[in-house]
Amino acid sequence: MKNSIKKIAVLTSGGDSPGMNAAIRAVVRSCVYHNVTCIGVFRGYEGLIEGDFTPLDARSVKNIINRGGTFLKSARSKEFRTKLGREKAYNHLKKQGIDALVTIGGDGTFSGAIVFNKEFDFPIVGLPGTIDNDINGTDFTIGYDTALNTVVEAIDKIRDTAISHSRLFLIEVMGRDAGDIALNAGIGAGAEEILIPELNMGKERLLASLKRSKKSGKSSSIVVVSEGDQIGKNIFGLAAYIQENLEEYECKVTVLGHVQRGGSPSCFDRVLASRLGVGAVDALLAGKRDVMIGLVHNKVVSIDFEKSLEGSNKIDTDLIRVADIISI
Ligand code: F6P
Repeated sequence: MKNSIKKIAVLTSGGDSPGMNAAIRAVVRSCVYHNVTCIGVFRGYEGLIEGDFTPLDARSVKNIINRGGTFLKSARSKEFRTKLGREKAYNHLKKQGIDALVTIGGDGTFSGAIVFNKEFDFPIVGLPGTIDNDINGTDFTIGYDTALNTVVEAIDKIRDTAISHSRLFLIEVMGRDAGDIALNAGIGAGAEEILIPELNMGKERLLASLKRSKKSGKSSSIVVVSEGDQIGKNIFGLAAYIQENLEEYECKVTVLGHVQRGGSPSCFDRVLASRLGVGAVDALLAGKRDVMIGLVHNKVVSIDFEKSLEGSNKIDTDLIRVADIISI
């Protein structure tokens, strides 16, 4: 298998995340370093289906390590979920003489890659690029650290106005199925309560906890709510419920939304993306296929694609304990 790879394509798919550009840059430059031709694919699997390709060299990726988003653009492709769509994609890859693909994205991106690899036996290596940190086989996904910093900065600002008006704020953060952003940013920003999809707290317990907070002398409160949480899914409904039951509180809602996905990547994300990008090309050249490259205990590792989707909704119970203790 070694050295059979002469041409590698790279794409970004699904929700963009800060650091995707740094990852593309590392893949491209690693290809150049190893004398491998690199091709960029625009708009993820959509571009693969349409043959929207561009050659990339070391200079094509200059001045992007610091930029958020992805210059290759991204998409959530419906057509790639169909056999016909995947066939079109495969034909374009063959026509261009591409030997392997690096896909940068989250669980949806990896699910598509697994099916594609099974159908066409096409070598693919994945890089975990999502703010959600919900991928198994890596301690951190590319973009997660930046998103956490963005959220904490926003909550710090909200806290200023919450204190000034003695208000309770419900702050919705991203993470459809994963509470990592809510839990870590909640601890980092000193939230009173953190609602996550993995643990249904129940409305009654939330009310009791807020009552306790008030009694203990807190004049303002921050509750961080993950968008996928059971009781927080409808955050405006939850705010109305609290308001009805706890008259002592004036309750406001802030939905942080896509601001969390933008911005210049943190140094941590730039380094992570660079290490994993180089790791992806190393893996392909070493004959590895159908794997994701991740970082575990500060070491670059590879894990079977299918395993990367297993148990991604694990939650660190120690963090929950810490959050409970420090919010007294
Ligand atoms: O998967 C990353 C993510 O940012 C989730 O946290 C969020 O639920 C989703 O993407 C939003 O997707 P879209 O930008 O397509 O609305």
